Amino acid sequence: MKKVFSVAIIGCGSRGLDVYAFNMVETKGFEIVSVCDKRETRIERAKELYSINPDNCFLDENEFFKEKRADVLVIATQDRDHVRQCIKALEKGYDVLLEKPISPSKDECLALLAAHKKYGGKVIVCHVLRYAPAYKKAAELIDSGAIGKLIDINALEQVGYWHIAHSFVRGNWRNSEETSPMILAKCCHDMDLLQYFAKSKAKSVSSIGDLSYFKKENQPKDAADKCDECKYDKTCPYSAYRTYVERWKEAGMPDTMWPQNVVCLEHPLTEEKIINAYKHNKYGRCVFACDNNVVDHQTTNILFENGVTANLTMLGFTQTNSRIYRFHGSIGEIVLDEERKELVYKPFGGQSEIFPFSKILKTEVGHGGGDLALIEALYDSLTNQSGLSTVLESSIESHLMAFAAEASRLKDGKAINPHE
Ligand SMILES: NC(=O)c1ccc[n+]([C@@H]2O[C@H](COP(=O)([O-])OP(=O)(O)OC[C@H]3O[C@@H](n4cnc5c(N)ncnc54)[C@H](O)[C@@H]3O)[C@@H](O)[C@H]2O)c1
Repeated sequence: MKKVFSVAIIGCGSRGLDVYAFNMVETKGFEIVSVCDKRETRIERAKELYSINPDNCFLDENEFFKEKRADVLVIATQDRDHVRQCIKALEKGYDVLLEKPISPSKDECLALLAAHKKYGGKVIVCHVLRYAPAYKKAAELIDSGAIGKLIDINALEQVGYWHIAHSFVRGNWRNSEETSPMILAKCCHDMDLLQYFAKSKAKSVSSIGDLSYFKKENQPKDAADKCDECKYDKTCPYSAYRTYVERWKEAGMPDTMWPQNVVCLEHPLTEEKIINAYKHNKYGRCVFACDNNVVDHQTTNILFENGVTANLTMLGFTQTNSRIYRFHGSIGEIVLDEERKELVYKPFGGQSEIFPFSKILKTEVGHGGGDLALIEALYDSLTNQSGLSTVLESSIESHLMAFAAEASRLKDGKAINPHE
């Protein structure tokens, strides 16, 4: 009989309920028994999906934390809630699946590390890409010596024009005062991957970048501040109609779809419901008339203690949202291209070998299969079948790199040692 772990979730939004609860139940190794969310609609949705006893559903985190409710706690609230809640969870004796970023504050990250040393328990940070099969394949090739000594990693994070508009101009991660700067919110997976592949701590980080486009001065003079009132509603590539309705139609009008399910909490989705939702919420705003301050492009250079160098470019101005990673070694290179859906191994003086993702992945859904693979790895770790790689210490290392990158960007690219 497969052991089943009981799970409580705090933060039943897109990640907590739609991604983790779904994948946990899919693996048949977890049962959702308790939920906490500030929004009643999300509690109702959780009850409906997982038949949770109403006595185990909470609207208030203080009530929720009065007792330990399950074996495992998923923390999928917003960035600035994570550490406070994770410390309470460790005190109560939970093993924790913690959404990234841990926190936009360096002091909070270090406070969590101290609490973890004090209370014990597992804290697994959701750096899902480490578990995505294509990245695991790259790690396997590098570890086998296929490209010799790793010299440099060149990473391109193509956020995608509609994704940057949704999440980082109109949405939850638009303002660094409310959530996190872009380098943490979007690129903390990349920072994590770079140090994971480099197998070293960063010694020097420098970064440049800016918010160049999504600001008032670039709004056409005759455009309206709300898309549904704007003459460019059907032609502007960033309009709410084109982002939420046209893309949903192109996908075959599914009952639920990300990010339409964030914009419109009613389901099944219809054109009328989507338009009505964004008319009345933040997602219907003109991209040039929002309260956003996070960058729309940023380039970061990193020197690791072992001499490996890395460059990460994050760009909002791309048609697709996908990453391209190039690993340059002394006797070969690897190109991992999410857009072409293939990993190519190129030995110097030898035949290239192509690994199509279709041969590597179980599912392409959710960070190239990483969301599901993370949950499977969590199960293995709880049953002591494997040590998880995204333990707190190494995740904090990637956050220190991101803090250094942001500090450098604000000083016009001055090189910064993340450990000073
Ligand atoms: N691992 C990844 O790849 C990945 C991808 C996207 C987002 N994230 C992270 O996941 C987290 C959640 O993002 P999301 O997209 O699910 O956001 P969301 O807004 O859809 O969900 C957050 C939920 O937390 C609830 N909440 C907020 N404060 C609360 C509190 N004090 N007590 C109880 N509930 C509370 C909200 O009502 C909401 O339902 C964020 O930290 C985000 O940065 C990670």
